[in-house]
Amino acid sequence: MKKFEIAVIPGDGIGREVVPAALKVLDTLCEVHGGLRFETTQFDWSCEYYLEHGEMMPEEGLQTLANFNAIFLGAVGNPKLVPDHISLWGLLVKIRREFEQVINIRPAKLIKGVKSPLANPKDFDLIVVRENSEGEYSEIGGRIHRGEDEITVQNAIFTRKGTERAMRYAFELAKKRRGRVTSATKSNGIFHSMPFWDEVFNDVKKDYPTIETESIHIDALAAFFVNRPHMFDVIVASNLFGDILTDLGAAIMGSIGIAPAANININGKYPSMFEPVHGSAPDIVGKGIANPIGQIWTAKMMLDHFGENELGTKLLDIVEQVTEAGIVTPDIGGTATTNEVTEEICKRIKQL
Ligand code: NAI
Ligand code: MG
Repeated sequence: MKKFEIAVIPGDGIGREVVPAALKVLDTLCEVHGGLRFETTQFDWSCEYYLEHGEMMPEEGLQTLANFNAIFLGAVGNPKLVPDHISLWGLLVKIRREFEQVINIRPAKLIKGVKSPLANPKDFDLIVVRENSEGEYSEIGGRIHRGEDEITVQNAIFTRKGTERAMRYAFELAKKRRGRVTSATKSNGIFHSMPFWDEVFNDVKKDYPTIETESIHIDALAAFFVNRPHMFDVIVASNLFGDILTDLGAAIMGSIGIAPAANININGKYPSMFEPVHGSAPDIVGKGIANPIGQIWTAKMMLDHFGENELGTKLLDIVEQVTEAGIVTPDIGGTATTNEVTEEICKRIKQL
């Protein structure tokens, strides 16, 4: 029996609706599979917790989380109670940074029965590997003077280690997929960092002779996400470029409610964190109509992370059977509730 210990943080808003749904699906999957068990421990860290305790998580929160195999998070944020910069930085960003989750991965794929806003989306199935710890999102720089003579300098930081590990992650992933890596560059416009990025990419690719590669400038790449996303397999991108591309990826799938994500710690010192792309959706909280698929697909990424790829693939197949049958929430054009979608997925898992 394989056993994984999971720290569960439902967080705020619909996080508390979709996390229980996804855990139910995981439990059902484990029951049917037999040889696998997830032992979950719930933490009520959230904006309400903040109102009571003056912090988003207890001081020893990170130490507590460090003992788990993974963190499964819903969404954080309730701007009516706590300003977003306090809630997100006090929990989500803190975990990502302190636990050295240097890679962010977000797949985007045409899901059966879900209408893409693209007129001709074909059968795209891609995954963006985003460098999650450095690059353009740095605190280095400054401002002097104010007004007419004002000067601002914002430095981007690219280390060879950080760049190389993101690229190697992308190549390793491509080996398990369709064997193709696209590098998001901008070496025609950004003078130092992007020619460096290209150089590292050219060095790393020598170690993967069976992988097909290409480098595409980020502006053209953004356009290709719209008019030929089926051409891509794995895309590796810097922090900023990856941030933008992954939102575009979620958009072409048809709803933010189905998009999953993972923040990966690759040195094995700390757990990785799995969370859907969407936030706490205050506009639909309590209505029972939150789409659970983003959180369920996130659970599939956690299965993949633990080497249970076969089970993960089965789970996503079942999700697609359910969407194809039209049993979906209003955000993707249906009338089903969170519970109805979840029950239908569980029912089909039991038929495996
Ligand atoms: P949001 O993702 O919560 O909602 C955007 C829109 O998408 C809303 O209309 C919402 O109803 C819809 N939506 C989102 N998830 C859905 C789902 N599963 N099913 C059906 N519809 C869904 O983004 P918003 O409104 O900008 O942010 C709300 C709060 O969430 C803020 O406090 C924000 O800071 C936080 N947030 C947290 C994130 C996280 O925890 N990773 C990510 C994004 C926002
Ligand atoms: Mg973003």
